Amino acid sequence: MKRLDAILEAAPGLIDGAADLPALASVEAELLGKSSVVGELRRGMGKLDPEQRPVVGAKLQEAADQLKTQVARRREVLEMAAERELLISDRLDLTLDAWVPTVGTRHLITQVIEEVTDIFLGLGYVVADGPEVENVWYNFDALNTPDWHPSRLESDTLYVEYRERDDVLMRVHTSPVQARYMEANDPPVYIIAPGRTFRTDTWDATHSPSFHQIEGLVVDEHITFSDLKGTLIHFVHEFFGPDTEVQFNPHFFPFTEPSAELHVKLDGTWLEMLGCGVVDPDVLVNVGYDPDKYSGFAFGMGVERLAMPKYGIKDIRRFYENDLRVLRQFP
Ligand code: PHE
Repeated sequence: MKRLDAILEAAPGLIDGAADLPALASVEAELLGKSSVVGELRRGMGKLDPEQRPVVGAKLQEAADQLKTQVARRREVLEMAAERELLISDRLDLTLDAWVPTVGTRHLITQVIEEVTDIFLGLGYVVADGPEVENVWYNFDALNTPDWHPSRLESDTLYVEYRERDDVLMRVHTSPVQARYMEANDPPVYIIAPGRTFRTDTWDATHSPSFHQIEGLVVDEHITFSDLKGTLIHFVHEFFGPDTEVQFNPHFFPFTEPSAELHVKLDGTWLEMLGCGVVDPDVLVNVGYDPDKYSGFAFGMGVERLAMPKYGIKDIRRFYENDLRVLRQFP
């Protein structure tokens, strides 16, 4: 019995000292197994006096239960620890090869269109648009373009085969939006119309068969060439900077009279930026406006032409190749 008391006293230290489940299993065998003190005493029960047996038996059972409970408690703790360790070592680091979504940016052409549009929105203009596939009436006739004008030839204009018609084409400028807008709306007109345009140009450093223009049109009472000048000078100063020099040089367009080309001096060089002029009264008549009551001015600028000097792009093809090394420079 003394040995049993000694075991019960030593047991908690042994049990709690077991660092893992295999260690606990050997402690358990040591305390409760066949060759343990408890096991030995159990085997010796038969040799005891009959009246001693229940007393010793009860004591032994109580000791065994006590040891079993202690072992079970420790086992629970060790099992939880083992589980936790397994979870930690087994964990997938989901952030390691996570897919990072890339955020796109607007193309430089779009950015320049928005920049220009914003300047005119600030002056009270509204945005208008029209189809890229046009017909001869809106692209040429309504705009007072004579039959003999070379821009009508297939050498300049891309015609579209559409059913039996021979008057369908890719618009060569954004000017047809002028005619379409005036037909559908009464004056006053203050519009800006950005969009894509097409010509039979050969792809090189300064030409592309598809490019972009921004059209402007004002029609109101008492509009003069001075309004045109003031407006475009304001635009150039907003877009290229307040000290930029500007020249209006006489030119010809069928739909404006007088007409001019606007040149801008950038880094010491005069660059042609846009065509403009006072709306020809014949155009006003074509769309049903009274030319004695209303007058106006119009202009059309090349988006790539504005963007190239401003953003230092030397080859127009860079705009359309979608080379990420280029696109990433204009976030
Ligand atoms: N449509 C002309 C061009 O493409 C530009 C222009 C627009 C000229 C409006 C005068 C008025 O060259």
